[in-house]
Amino acid sequence: MLQVKGVSFKGILKGISFDVRPGELVVITGPNGSGKSTLAKIIAGVEKSDAGEIIFKDEDIVKKDCTERARMGLAFSFQQPVRFKGLTVRDLLKIAASGSEAFLDNEMKEVDGYLKKVGLEPALYLDREVNASLSGGELKRIEIASVLARDAVLSIFDEPEAGIDIWSFDNLVKMFKDMRKKNPKRAIVIISHQERIMKIADRIILLENGEISAHGTPEQMMARIGGGLK
Ligand SMILES: Nc1ncnc2c1ncn2[C@@H]1O[C@H](COP(=O)(O)OP(=O)(O)OP(=O)(O)O)[C@@H](O)[C@H]1O
Ligand SMILES: [Mg+2]
Repeated sequence: MLQVKGVSFKGILKGISFDVRPGELVVITGPNGSGKSTLAKIIAGVEKSDAGEIIFKDEDIVKKDCTERARMGLAFSFQQPVRFKGLTVRDLLKIAASGSEAFLDNEMKEVDGYLKKVGLEPALYLDREVNASLSGGELKRIEIASVLARDAVLSIFDEPEAGIDIWSFDNLVKMFKDMRKKNPKRAIVIISHQERIMKIADRIILLENGEISAHGTPEQMMARIGGGLK
């Protein structure tokens, strides 16, 4: 579904190659500054790589901009969520969901459901603007809800746990499990430092100093990285 081949960027990424297959949940982990968010931005089309190929659904997408990539079925939740001044939470979710089949069947009920899944009460948030008045954690949850609403072929989450209080962590993990169950042919990539998220992965990729230094199953990788990455 996604093949990253020899991607390099300004000395920050040095020939990254991996693939993601339909139905897989892949976690990318690694120390601060190792290049994880940069890699996510390059896959999203926000940054342009210096070298390498990115194949998505059998097509080289390197020359496509982020809008075209989104249209092909790539969805992103960034480490620093994007604010949309003037747009309400309802509008954001409706725009995100407008391409998905579930939305056409169910419209607003689904939009409510996405907020509930990230632990936000729809009545309190649907009419709020996606601006600086939202707390960091609220904004992060709303961005995650918008990725859920997209129901994309490949969803990439950059540190979804960032800013989410520890009480909600179980729900976050459950949300990813549900997401997989609902769409067994979709794929999910999560950039994370959290052991509990790594444990639900099919494969973990370890990025260190702009290079993939190891990859394997959670069992193999836990033994290697233990708790020493945070
Ligand atoms: N456009 C850029 N120009 C120069 N340096 C950059 C650029 N973007 C990122 N960097 C640097 O590249 C390195 C990798 O950054 P990146 O955000 O990808 O790390 P990360 O693995 O996501 O870290 P964290 O776990 O802290 O989120 C950092 O040292 C960062 O300062
Ligand atoms: Mg990062």
